[in-house]
Amino acid sequence: MARPRLQYRCSACDGTAARWAGRCPACGEWNSLVEEADAPAAGASSAWWEQDPGDFRRGAASPDGARVLALVDVDPNACLPRPTGLGELDAVLGGGLLPGSVTLLGGEPGVGKSTLLLQVLLAVARQGHEVLLVSAEESAAQVRRRAERLGPLPAGLKLLPTGDLSSLPDAWREGPPELVVVDSVQAVFDPATGGAPGSLGQVRACTDLLVSLAKHHAAAFVLVGHVTKEGALAGPRTLEHLVDTVLSVEGDRHHALRTVRAVKHRFGPVGEVGLFEMTDAGLAAVTDPYRLLLGDRRPGAPGSAVLPGVEGQRALLVELQALTAPSAGDAPCRRSAQGVDAGRLALLIAVLEQRAGVRLTRTDVFASAVGGIRVTEPAADLALALAVASAVRGRPLPPDLVAFGEVGLGGEVRAVPGAPRRLAEAARVGFRHALVPSSCPDGPPGMEVIHARSIGEAVALACSVPEGA
Ligand code: TYD
Ligand code: MG
Repeated sequence: MARPRLQYRCSACDGTAARWAGRCPACGEWNSLVEEADAPAAGASSAWWEQDPGDFRRGAASPDGARVLALVDVDPNACLPRPTGLGELDAVLGGGLLPGSVTLLGGEPGVGKSTLLLQVLLAVARQGHEVLLVSAEESAAQVRRRAERLGPLPAGLKLLPTGDLSSLPDAWREGPPELVVVDSVQAVFDPATGGAPGSLGQVRACTDLLVSLAKHHAAAFVLVGHVTKEGALAGPRTLEHLVDTVLSVEGDRHHALRTVRAVKHRFGPVGEVGLFEMTDAGLAAVTDPYRLLLGDRRPGAPGSAVLPGVEGQRALLVELQALTAPSAGDAPCRRSAQGVDAGRLALLIAVLEQRAGVRLTRTDVFASAVGGIRVTEPAADLALALAVASAVRGRPLPPDLVAFGEVGLGGEVRAVPGAPRRLAEAARVGFRHALVPSSCPDGPPGMEVIHARSIGEAVALACSVPEGA
């Protein structure tokens, strides 16, 4: 049997190194290498890759008894997703949770991960199924108090209030659960593995264990994962590779709106977004997003532009705001971006200066997406740039104008996907003008489409559309 070997694994990029170093040779991160034993699993000497290849030629079965199948003989309906009972979440997942799958639900502390999953557990248990919550962060009494706020308690909801995963396999002896939620993957531990809960080795070992339990018992597992300030899942990136689906819950703690997105999904589309509102009785599906997103908008105020955004299949209007002010003294200019990409904002400021003659030197620029929503698509460039230009010039954009398009470094306005959906949603909500890339098709009746080839042209056009025309 091979001797256990020591190696070092980077907690930032998950790369390995034979020797310890202060800086990861792969990604350059400082102090990120952690020692781990690279020991072969028990009985590894009989692992299939070490066996005599002759055994395979003689027709020995593969270790897990798998057989080659003709794809046409496979029943595509053998394993279908099961609805969670939360329609917005099911839409993101493409129908629901698949038995035997493992989903990682990431998000910042306090965003509502535990609340959302408790609602899922309650909904599935109310359909008459057995479900289990492994609560490593909250006591049994805390979970009960939270659950009571969310409605009547079904008998099928079971609780394992511990972080010790060695007792988890016992759960299948009586009433095997169809859905298991582990809150959180950074707080559970496997006593057979060294290291503190949350350490690289523990997170990997626990995830491995949970993935094999899910596959073995054909139960759906959902793991809560904490997210660092930078937005990455705390722990190795491999965590994302080990699971089937990665969902991300986002939202500003000071706003009610929460979005749930599929970042990775082996069984369906990514990019779909579910909209929830945090209420006194947990997370509720948002039926009228514009009450939260455009409800307090002051049409005609400088620095405000409306973007018809697209997330997955859904088009959603979002107000982007900018405020500019002279920089104080010799201090460097401040650039602040909330809900919009800071790098993109810096780029657009430079493009406005160099390509559209909008002066922003010695000017502080603050930009935000209203309502606690996060806008990441490049299609937001044009609306964001117009909000900044409108703010610095003190000239409001027409109140019934929307704008979308990617802005290139040459100042050109580029085509983006989903133009018809964006125009249709803007028209439905009552907007009458759309400033768009030159290749964009015509809009629906009642919507005037104004083509802009460059950012300079767009800034000039946006200020010349007569108000209320
Ligand atoms: P929580 O689910 O504990 O967040 P996470 O697990 O992501 O850390 O949500 C915490 C917040 O949600 C907390 O500020 C209280 C609030 N909340 C409500 O507003 N309504 C509710 O019904 C519940 C259960 C929580
Ligand atoms: Mg929690």
